[in-house]
Amino acid sequence: MLKRTHNCGQLRIEDSGLKVILAGWVNSYRDHGNLVFIDLRDREGLTQIVFNPDTNPEMHKLARTIRCEWVIAIEGIAQPRSEGMENPKLSTGKIEVSVDKLEILNISKTPPFEVDNADKTGEELRLAYRYIDLRRPVMQHKLRTRHKVTKITRDYFDNLGFWEIETPMLGKSTPEGARDFLVPSRLVPNTFYALPQSPQLFKQILMVSDVEKYFQIVRCFRDEDPRADRQAEFTQIDVEMSFVDTDDIISVHENLAAKIWKEILGVDVKLPMRRMTYNESMSDYGIDRPDLRFDMKLKDITDIAKETSFKVFTSTIENGGIVKGLCAPGGDKYSRSDIEKVLTKFVADYGAKGLAWAKVKSEDGNLTLQGGSAKFFSQEQAKQLLERFDAKADDLLLFVADNEAIVNKSLAPLRCKLGRELKLYDDDSFEFVWVVDFPLFEWNEDEKRFDSLHHPFTAPVDDDLEKLETDPGHIRSKAYDIVVNGSEIGGGSIRIHNMKTQQKVFDLLNITREQAEDRFGFFLKALEYGAPPHGGIAFGLDRLVMLLTGTENIRDVIAFPKTQRGQCLLTEAPSGVDLKQLNELNLRVQTHSHKIDEIASEEQ
Ligand code: AMO
Ligand code: AMP
Repeated sequence: MLKRTHNCGQLRIEDSGLKVILAGWVNSYRDHGNLVFIDLRDREGLTQIVFNPDTNPEMHKLARTIRCEWVIAIEGIAQPRSEGMENPKLSTGKIEVSVDKLEILNISKTPPFEVDNADKTGEELRLAYRYIDLRRPVMQHKLRTRHKVTKITRDYFDNLGFWEIETPMLGKSTPEGARDFLVPSRLVPNTFYALPQSPQLFKQILMVSDVEKYFQIVRCFRDEDPRADRQAEFTQIDVEMSFVDTDDIISVHENLAAKIWKEILGVDVKLPMRRMTYNESMSDYGIDRPDLRFDMKLKDITDIAKETSFKVFTSTIENGGIVKGLCAPGGDKYSRSDIEKVLTKFVADYGAKGLAWAKVKSEDGNLTLQGGSAKFFSQEQAKQLLERFDAKADDLLLFVADNEAIVNKSLAPLRCKLGRELKLYDDDSFEFVWVVDFPLFEWNEDEKRFDSLHHPFTAPVDDDLEKLETDPGHIRSKAYDIVVNGSEIGGGSIRIHNMKTQQKVFDLLNITREQAEDRFGFFLKALEYGAPPHGGIAFGLDRLVMLLTGTENIRDVIAFPKTQRGQCLLTEAPSGVDLKQLNELNLRVQTHSHKIDEIASEEQ
């Protein structure tokens, strides 16, 4: 076999005259009768190779049998391309290789799509033939970027004295709050392992063991419905440290993020990163992961709205609701029908009952409100509104009246949609922020109890500890999330390290002593044997790579991802199994016509 001397992205005009051997895939094939041109591709790039019947008739004849995606090796001489044939888009665009020897290493069936045109191919077909899809330069760039991020991360933590320690995949259910993937045990019939939703409890136990600085690049499993930025099987950069406070964790991890952005994109991230409280974020952006690439803050206008003659507003407020809105700069370009059909439908999907609007117009140098609900505002109320939003001519005001949750839930995505459509930010910019001071609990109205906003091991802020007894709804936690451009790329907290506080939190969560004992007894026991103060965080590696490679589809950054239905189209997992396997596991599969309990009752 011909052994490569260079890769396909390497040769430059200075290499002219050099005898070289290249190997790779046939990316494209052009037969000009007398000359055959092939773009030879490997993961480093493309090189044009040329077969000339005058200099080597035998190789030229063989070359004419070649097809796309065949694997070949060639030996030849690098030479400048003839004038006018240069390709400035390619790093190798000034040269070509004139072939003397051709070895066909393997043929290929006609691929179901061309590598060059794969972006016009449906994703399902690309996933079924992922090995061909991954040959595309954009996909190779994503694989390479992901590799680089993990390499930078490992080196970074190693330099700071962290140890990478593996934790079990076959474990006990953990408390991140999603549904578990279960694995039946063969050796202990009728029992199950849970795949980890995160290594949360193990990493805390490692602090009790005096590992002091732990990290792991680790697969996590959550049986949730996949979304654009969520997979059931994803990867975390998981960290835990002892004898630290919030500032220590934030500092270590904002430096890591800055290093990754610098080394991968050459972007300087300003440190220290901005911090924002949860309350500020919810009030100004309606969400706990604000996109700070543009301003357009939400404003509460309940005080103005309640004085207006607009029934929609006044009756909502009388019923305990609020009115919030935003001012879209240049939003005049949305027509009445855009607003009343498209934008109103958009917020309706988030539960809003309507979308009130008014346009800001300049009349004789004075700003006025026109259209939509403008007529319900007196001149004085209009003036107050314009001032509150610092509105300019040709802006568009949009409002939702409802309870606070629906107002925020609908306006936050509307703000992002408008920001994108009105081009209020530069696509290449990155705005980082730490969101801090989350509430420890949120009230679960359905079940009439508190839920943890993060997880039950998150420590309360010291000043709020006494509220555990008196006012649990207003306790702040020592939790922090790192957010970039509206995407939550990581989150963590300082943990509770004494049993008493932990027990109190379980009580508030309505987790009985028996339940706590059954689910996390091993962990509570460990806390009683000298647990140091500790805290940690986990970054979502997939989301980091999405931002770094500019994709909104999480499947693009995972070599072998699953579809929305959790299927791997390449291997066709999940799939049925043999009866023998089920018998060994003491399992029986429920069929459509017979539920297990029905079968059981029939058997009795
Ligand atoms: P959390 O549940 O916030 O915290 O997860 C941490 C980060 O992981 C990413 N992430 C996901 N990425 C892709 N698909 C998913 N389904 C998915 N779920 C989460 C997010 C998120 O910020 N044990 C705690 C961390 C800690 O307290 O130390 C935890 O898992 O980017
Ligand atoms: P209606 O009285 O339902 O015809 O609505 C009049 C205008 O008020 C329309 O533009 C609606 O979209 C808007 N609207 C209705 N309900 C709400 C609401 N809860 N919040 C904001 N605007 C609303």
